[in-house]
Amino acid sequence: LGDEHDPTAGKHLVVVSNRQPYRHEFEGDDDEVVVDRPTGGLTAGLDPVMQSAGGTWVAWGDGGADPQVADADDCVAVPPEDPAYTLRRLWLDEETVDGYYYGYSNRGLWPLCHSALTKTRFSQEYWERYRTVNERFADAVAEQCSGDRPWVWFQDYHLALAPRHVRESGNEDAVLAHFWHIPWPGPDVYRSCPQREELLDGLLANDLFGVHIDRYRENFLDCVEEILPTAIVDRQRSVVHYEGGETRVRSFPMGVDADRIASGATSDEASAFWESFAADNRLDGSDRQVVLGVDRLDYAKGILERFDALEHLWANNPEWRGRFTYVQKGSETRTGIRDYREYQSRIGEAVDRLNDRFGTDDWQPVVALTEMLSEPALAGLYRNADVALVSSIRDGMNLVAKEYVAAQVDHDGVLVLSRHAGVHDDPVFAENALTTDPLDTCAFSDTIRTALTLSSADRSRRMRRLRRSVHENDLSAWMDSVFEAMEDIGEHRAGATPS
Ligand code: G6P
Repeated sequence: LGDEHDPTAGKHLVVVSNRQPYRHEFEGDDDEVVVDRPTGGLTAGLDPVMQSAGGTWVAWGDGGADPQVADADDCVAVPPEDPAYTLRRLWLDEETVDGYYYGYSNRGLWPLCHSALTKTRFSQEYWERYRTVNERFADAVAEQCSGDRPWVWFQDYHLALAPRHVRESGNEDAVLAHFWHIPWPGPDVYRSCPQREELLDGLLANDLFGVHIDRYRENFLDCVEEILPTAIVDRQRSVVHYEGGETRVRSFPMGVDADRIASGATSDEASAFWESFAADNRLDGSDRQVVLGVDRLDYAKGILERFDALEHLWANNPEWRGRFTYVQKGSETRTGIRDYREYQSRIGEAVDRLNDRFGTDDWQPVVALTEMLSEPALAGLYRNADVALVSSIRDGMNLVAKEYVAAQVDHDGVLVLSRHAGVHDDPVFAENALTTDPLDTCAFSDTIRTALTLSSADRSRRMRRLRRSVHENDLSAWMDSVFEAMEDIGEHRAGATPS
């Protein structure tokens, strides 16, 4: 956080998210507990804040559920070597996870918010589970709400109903904030959700509702206006008055920990990884370029569209065969859902198809990397990629675009960026990345060629501007702006109702 002023100082902070920052697993015959460190951007970024502010983090105890304690909640002090805050885990049984996580959250809300209506499924059973889990989260939060005006910060679409329950369990004074990490669609799409009113009712119990960009903020206000007749939307202040409460709706474009990524990129571990990867894939000692994609293997990321564009490029421009290798770093995700399993197997088929069609004795066109990489190894891969492709069909922000930029310490890479990723709404990205539309195969393929032929002066000029912006608007700047907005709400309330 900023040097001069720390808005979280002296606050009782409760963070609520589906995923937990530390995962405790039992290993071996004597059930020794092994702890996984946080890796995701948000969990890794918030963990130091929690360590300095103290408080509680409430999350699903994914992976560590001991059948003995299933259905009970349970607290552990983290980090294990130097406990600074409490992690409260909710143990969810398999049926509950199927309905709440795989069902309502990821077959309902995820495709809805990514405007993928043909993939969207809502069922009464999913909804019941989602409601129950949200109540359990809210009960756990309410128990942690102690002290003067506690701050509660909910993360994402898994928890839309929890704020209302927390508010109604006697926490009128708590400052409730929610950040929605995925897109918020316009009313035309959003009205397809059978529980459209209940979800908005839950979210409007927050004092602050944050999204990445202004477009989602406008969409949210449009939905409230259309769907909740009793809500009053003040467009000028971007505030909703509803059920006696006031919700400020704000955009906070999320950033990445740019310093950490840049130092990872220059580490020995990054160089060692890259040297062995390059040697294994015949990338060293040649002028063959590297084009990179890094994704959770999700249909919203436009990965198949990327393979179509690459196939089009090599088929129609044979002189480009052998001149670059495409590296796909992919991590499997949500494999409990058929749409994901099918998508992931179609990606495997596309990789084989391109390699069979264009591969030669000394060139493998596509290298698929599925192993887990350490942060420095990934930063090394980003640093050495001449071009990165981000081709989302829809994407809340897309932090891969920002990670790639942060790792570009030599300023010689080019970012090809879908106009449908939230990050493209940032003018610095729109002007300095090469914009593409992943649904237009031919144009996408042309953009990849342009990226490969950009002069080094042009690459450097664009990348320097992007890097400056990514450093200025990093993860801690994002958290600061959310916390400052919460502080302002707390002060406003204290002024209105003296305690
Ligand atoms: C998206 C969501 C995050 C989520 C992540 C991983 O980025 O916005 O909230 O943590 O996907 O998805 P998973 O389903 O594995 O938690």
